[in-house]
This record gives sequence, C-alpha cells and structure tokens, in this order.
Amino acid sequence: MRHSTFFFLALIAAIVQAVPAADLTKPPAGTCTISAVAVDAPDVDTDGSGCRAGTVGVAFSSDNSLMTILFDDFKAAIGPNAGSTKKRAFCRVNVTMASPGWAFDVSSVDFRGYVRIAQGVDASIVSRWKWIDSKGQDMKGKGNINKKLAGPFEDDFLLHKDGELSDNEASVCSKASARFQLSISASLSASGSSLSGLVQGDAANAQFGEVLNLGWKKC
Ligand SMILES: *[C@@H]1O[C@H](CO)[C@@H](O)[C@H](O)[C@H]1NC(C)=O
Repeated sequence: MRHSTFFFLALIAAIVQAVPAADLTKPPAGTCTISAVAVDAPDVDTDGSGCRAGTVGVAFSSDNSLMTILFDDFKAAIGPNAGSTKKRAFCRVNVTMASPGWAFDVSSVDFRGYVRIAQGVDASIVSRWKWIDSKGQDMKGKGNINKKLAGPFEDDFLLHKDGELSDNEASVCSKASARFQLSISASLSASGSSLSGLVQGDAANAQFGEVLNLGWKKC
C-alpha cells in the first residue's frame, strides 16, 4: 500500500514536471503590438535637426522582453564641416501600443551612438520617457538617461542605466492602455568656432538606437 502511494506521488511529480511552466513574467509572444509611432515635426525645437515621420522605428522583441527604438536620421554637428546639421538635435516619439492584460515599466536602458568631438567641444546626450493617459495627462513613473562627454573623444558609445523600475504594481497596471512617449536630444557646444563635433548613429548600422528592457506585470 505504502509502496503504491509512493509510486502514485512519483507519477504525479513526473507529470507536473513534463508540463512546461507558463512564463508568468512576460506576455506571450504575439500579444504586444504597436499601432502608431507619431514623431513631432522638426520645428518643435527651432534650433534642432530633430527627426521626421518615417525615420523612427519602434518594435517589441519577439519574446517581449525588449522594446527597441531606432532613429535613422538623428544627428547633431558643430564647427566648420557641420553644413546644414544643427548643433542641437531633438526627437520626440509617441508610441501607441496594445498589450492586453499586461503593462510594463522600464527596468534598464541601453543607448548607443557615435560621438566625435575635438578638444574644447562638449557633447550632451539625454533621453527621457514617460506615459501619457487617455486625457493627455502625464502619468507617474518616468525615467531618463543622460551622458556628458568632453572632447577629445571619438568612438561608438554605449550607455547603460539600471534600476528604472519606479512604481508599485498597481500603478504599473494603470499604464496598460497609456501612450508611451520617448525623447532624445543631443547638444554640442564648442569653445571656439574652428572646433568640430559630431553626434550620430553608430558605425555598425548608422542608427541611433535605444533598447529598453521591460519589466512586465500581469494586470
Ligand atoms: C505627442 O504627445 C504629446 C502629449 O500628449 C502631444 O502634445 C504631441 O502633440 C504628440 N505628438 C505627436 C506627433 O502626436
């Protein structure tokens, strides 16, 4: 009797193990969609090169752990070779998305691009994000990442920022149907008019890229 009870329990344990556990930490593949990416016209910042509609791509990774935002035409330049590129660039993107039953907060951010600045030139790169409710009001929980570089500097750069989770579970769930807004800006300043500086997409694919690592909550 005792022996068969043991056998029965062992059998149950084997069955439980054989059923793959549902991933309770992220929405299943295919659940999250992006329906609109609205980019402010360049003149939102009169001194900025900005970005134009169609130059910004936003996507969830197939396992929904990441949101990637790629800027095709984002750059700032200063100095004799700057041409028509302005010393300040600003791009703001509103993302309308759906993730039925789930909401996310941003847990960490990776940001990459390329900077080439002479001695005497400073570069400042800032990205901010927030959520906007259906009435157009800012919601709780926003984040930012920023970097200041002093020339001489010439390299691809990668910025990483951790620990952006800013909210308790209830307020994360209130973001389930909110719009997500993200902006980036790059500014250059030089101590002399002959000094050059450039901020643009990285060498590998000429895109300015930002990857948001998402912390999901089931709502
Ligand atoms: C983005 O959202 C803000 C805040 O709701 C709004 O003022 C702005 O016009 C929006 N931009 C675009 C291009 O839709």
